Amino acid sequence: MNKRIVLLPGDGIGKEVVESAKDVLSAIAEEFNHTFSFESHDIGGAAIDLHGTPLPQSTVDACMQADAVLLGAVGGPKWDQNPSHLRPERGLLGIRKALDLYANLRPIKGFKNLLHASPLKEEVITGSDLLIVRELTGGLYFGTPSERRDGGQTVVDTLAYSRREIERIVDKAFQAAEQRRGHLTSVDKANVLESSKLWREIVEEKKAQYPNVVVEHALVDSTAMKLITNPTEFDVIVTENMFGDILSDEASVLTGSLGMLPSASLREDGVGLYEPVHGSAPDIAGKGVANPIAAILSAALLLRYSFGLEDEAKLIEEAVQSVLDAGYHTADLQVSEGRLVGTWEMAKLIVDFIQSQNASKCIMSCYV
Ligand code: IPM
Ligand code: MN
Repeated sequence: MNKRIVLLPGDGIGKEVVESAKDVLSAIAEEFNHTFSFESHDIGGAAIDLHGTPLPQSTVDACMQADAVLLGAVGGPKWDQNPSHLRPERGLLGIRKALDLYANLRPIKGFKNLLHASPLKEEVITGSDLLIVRELTGGLYFGTPSERRDGGQTVVDTLAYSRREIERIVDKAFQAAEQRRGHLTSVDKANVLESSKLWREIVEEKKAQYPNVVVEHALVDSTAMKLITNPTEFDVIVTENMFGDILSDEASVLTGSLGMLPSASLREDGVGLYEPVHGSAPDIAGKGVANPIAAILSAALLLRYSFGLEDEAKLIEEAVQSVLDAGYHTADLQVSEGRLVGTWEMAKLIVDFIQSQNASKCIMSCYV
């Protein structure tokens, strides 16, 4: 398989973790005889410094030509005081919109032996395994008008959704639920918002098309609560952009290993942008101590969702689990036993596992 991957390292630890994920993708390409070409482009604060804009046209053009995009992280204190059009986050929002990446998937599953780092009691969090499907290109983030009026003392943001925008994300979530445990929680604020009422109607209409999925409607405020009290109740959660932003941050800390969580943002044709859920962590940037696993698992999602390479994706996930089982861990994981390693060593251990595992499979199949 021949594929073009654009790398957008961005800011802070984004650079280190994307480099690690690239090493893993290169190892996969070698072991499975694929040709992946990599091209790096600027986004976020790095792009502001070099090009005067968080999203240069050259970056958009490269991503438009790519089969998939792997992003590190954007942002940092250096650009915090910039006017809103010159903030690193604008780069991320711009590329999501430019590529029409409407479906943001954030799988949240605890790793055994790491649950003690959860802020929840171990018996509450044990067994939780959920997927947040967040609408990513509509709602408050993109609605117009969004402006200050009357000399800046009155403000307006707009929460707008078309039927089609809601239908496509709801379909995506039903399909994801069919592949998982068949339970979908649609989250809204239908007791107050007009947009949520249409959202609920559409979910109700779609139900008949997915008879194997049990659907439940829930309000966003009570969902925020239940995520903490009963996280194991959820399978797939689908919600609009802003609610999804908030709930996915809440959910991402529940398992105690934010540095391990990947995400995928997909377009209808399968082209996608993949990124770790964690941010740019400027305090530890450049020190070689960042956990590369979220970026590496994002690369696994890239292989699965954009290239349809399930075996290759699984091998990466297996490699991560096996390296953790062997006791290796990065500083963020709060493990006292085993061996503490840095970014590059962690990536190398994962690459080594991929190489050894695949070589032994080949030997077996050659001799059987
Ligand atoms: C995320 C981030 C972004 C968002 C920011 C950086 C604009 O928080 O990916 O969740 O709000 O979508
Ligand atoms: Mn967020």
